[in-house]
This record gives sequence, C-alpha cells and structure tokens, in this order.
Amino acid sequence: MVMLMIKVNQLCKSFGSIKAVDNVSIHVQQGEIFGLVGPDGAGKTTLIRMICDLITPDSGEVLLFNGGQNSFGYMPQKFSLYGDLTVMENINFFGAMYGMGSKTIRQRADEILELTNLINFKGRFADNLSGGMKQKLALTCALLSQPQLLVLDEPTFGVDPESRKEFWKTLYQLNQEKITILVSTPYMDEADLCHKVGFMNNGQLAVVDSPQNLKKRFPYQILEVKAETTEPEIFAGLENIIDVSFYGNKYHLVTNDALQVESFVSSLLQDKEINTQSIKQVLPSMEDVFVYLAEKEVD
Ligand SMILES: Nc1ncnc2c1ncn2[C@@H]1O[C@H](COP(=O)(O)OP(=O)(O)O)[C@@H](O)[C@H]1O
Ligand SMILES: [Mg+2]
Repeated sequence: MVMLMIKVNQLCKSFGSIKAVDNVSIHVQQGEIFGLVGPDGAGKTTLIRMICDLITPDSGEVLLFNGGQNSFGYMPQKFSLYGDLTVMENINFFGAMYGMGSKTIRQRADEILELTNLINFKGRFADNLSGGMKQKLALTCALLSQPQLLVLDEPTFGVDPESRKEFWKTLYQLNQEKITILVSTPYMDEADLCHKVGFMNNGQLAVVDSPQNLKKRFPYQILEVKAETTEPEIFAGLENIIDVSFYGNKYHLVTNDALQVESFVSSLLQDKEINTQSIKQVLPSMEDVFVYLAEKEVD
C-alpha cells in the first residue's frame, strides 16, 4: 500500500498581481525523493513555504502525514548559520531550539557529521567553510531531530558541481534510511536523480512523473551534434528541425526524422568545413524534456 507523506490540494498564493503558486496539487509518497524543478521565479519557494506552514495559502490545503512535528526537517533556501560560531556551536544552537538535551545533540551530531563528512570540522568557524560545506552543515541542522520527512529548498543553489554531487550522495544515503525527501532545484541534471519530478513554471505544475516516463513521453527524436562551432544559426532553415539547443559542447537538434536530419547536417558541416566529432541520435535528456514543456506552455 502506498503511504502518503504530503498531500497538497489546489494550492494558490498571489503576491499582488503575481500568481506565485497557481492551483498546484502534489502527492509525495513515503520513501520517495520528490523533486520540484523549475527556473528562478517558478514558485518553488512559495510552494515549499506553504507546505512548511510558514506562509498562509490564499486557497487550497496542505496535509502532512509525518507523525508529528519532530519528524519534519526543513532547510530553507537562505539558511542562516552563525559565521562566528563553530560547526559544533551552530549545531548546539539549533539543537537547543528544537528543545533537545546537550547529550542527545552530541550523539546525534556525531552520527550526522559522519554521514555529511563534516566530522573533522567540528571546531571550524562557519564563516571559514566552503559553500558546499555550509550547505552540509545546514543539512546537518535540519537532520538533528531525526525527521522522517526532509524538505529542502534549493539546497545546492550556487554550489560547485563536485559538491552538488556529494550533497546528492548524502541525500541518497538518507533516503536509504527511509527518509522521505522533498527537494527543489533549478538544476535540470538534478531532476534525473529524483524518483519523481514535478516541473514548475510560472506558478503552475506543468507535469509530474518519473524521469524515465518523462523521457518516454517526449514526442520527438534528438540528434546530438558535436562540432567545432558555437553558432546555432548554422542549422537554421534545415528541413525537419523543430528546435535547437546548445549545451556548451554539443547541440541537441529536436526532430521527427533523425535519420534524414543526420545526413543533412553531416553534409552541411562538410560543406562549411567545420570540424565534427560526432553526429548521433541520443535519448532525450531532462533538459530536452523541460525545454519542450516550457515552450509548449508559451505556445
Ligand atoms: N514575499 C513576496 N512578495 C512579493 N513577491 C514574491 C514574494 N515571494 C515570492 N514572490 C514572487 O513570486 C514568484 C515566485 O517566487 P518564488 O516562490 O521565490 O520562486 P522560486 O523559488 O521558484 O524561484 C516570483 O515572481 C517572486 O518574485
Ligand atoms: Mg526559490
């Protein structure tokens, strides 16, 4: 049987004329990593704040089935650590706010610091931590009360790619300990790491599904082109190309007929004497899926 942890029904919140969250419904199941993915301003933080009961919805409802207040950990988008306190002093402070005794805090802190790889930095001032380590300290504080449910708002924003990977590794470890995770992110590559993804744009939830299903539902083919050119315009006017995206070192051409476009593109690049590493059909990435969904909405 599927156990629900969070049930959000037709939630709305406006700020003046801005519909920050526009009729959003989601179900988060026990044991799942649910990702709220969307660009800046999509409404992720507003939605999460309502789920955490920090702001009041205009309409709709939020139901949490997490077995009481203590089993709910929240890491806000802008987490404030005390820079002039050490890692351990910050933890003591947050533990005391949760009403935990100092012995319990110490025990629990050791467990979590081990998990988050901060165990050797207990005495370091928070100001002297790297961005990735600060985020892990914030996560440590959110885990102090041994929550069954973790709600993380853009925990990896602005963090370097290596630290982002490490942060996600920790999330997987927590998830293996049966902790349900609701996490928001503007990074499409992180969508791939979630069990279920809700794509938000302009306050609305465009789609909710597993990454695998979202890719399966993508109605076109993708031709990946790696060539020494940084001008997407060179593909303009070619037949059967629906869309072109450039990802730093490669192009993704969206098409109904990868085979035909492949031969067009290959002769085009030859004609223009552009050095070409590879042209091949690939499965759509989450980026391809989201670009498609975002553009479909605008149409
Ligand atoms: N307290 C607020 N007052 C006015 N506008 C707000 C407030 N909070 C958010 N907004 C607006 O609501 C929209 C959604 O913001 P937010 O929920 O922060 O999105 P995200 O977290 O996806 O970046 C944005 O247009 C933002 O400017
Ligand atoms: Mg936000």
